[in-house]
Amino acid sequence: MSKEYSAEPLRLDKDLEGISLKSVTEHQKLYEGYVKKTNEIQGKISAADKLEANAVYSAIGELKRQETFAVNGMKLHEAYFPLLGGDGVAKGRILEMIERDFGSYDAWKDDFIATGMSARGWAILAYDWKDMRLHNYGMDAQNVGAVWGASPLIAMDMYEHAFFMDHGTNKKAYIEAFFKTLNWDFVNSIVEKYIG
Ligand SMILES: [Fe+2]
Repeated sequence: MSKEYSAEPLRLDKDLEGISLKSVTEHQKLYEGYVKKTNEIQGKISAADKLEANAVYSAIGELKRQETFAVNGMKLHEAYFPLLGGDGVAKGRILEMIERDFGSYDAWKDDFIATGMSARGWAILAYDWKDMRLHNYGMDAQNVGAVWGASPLIAMDMYEHAFFMDHGTNKKAYIEAFFKTLNWDFVNSIVEKYIG
């Protein structure tokens, strides 16, 4: 039997500049849905008939397909929510790594914003273990575009549900608000945890 996951509680208790508590509270409900569905899917996989596996259609095949969507939905939101509520000032080891791998903070930021503006799902600043450098990867869905062997350090949700309530179709305004509240201390704690 697989382990049951529990949703992390919402830590935010006030509006942020450009990202409202109402929006994040609704967003949290979607996240809790991913956790619930991860548990449900993994429970059903344990009980599913493996002998009927078929790539065109099979119950186990559909469960395996949706498992990646639910698991990534859970993990990426756990990377995203703690980033909200900081002072937006880039600092520490992550800033040094950004400058090393992108030439400058501004060059990285331009690329990250472009990644977000062109992604339908997520913009991810990841540490890729292949070359041990930082990369901005774009994802079109929770499970489309994920790169194996790379650890997400900054996950910016670009699904419409992340910005429509506060900004309508203005993705750029949402991205600006995200940067203003970005918790770089949390990013540095993730760097410490993953990379040491
Ligand atoms: Fe989301």
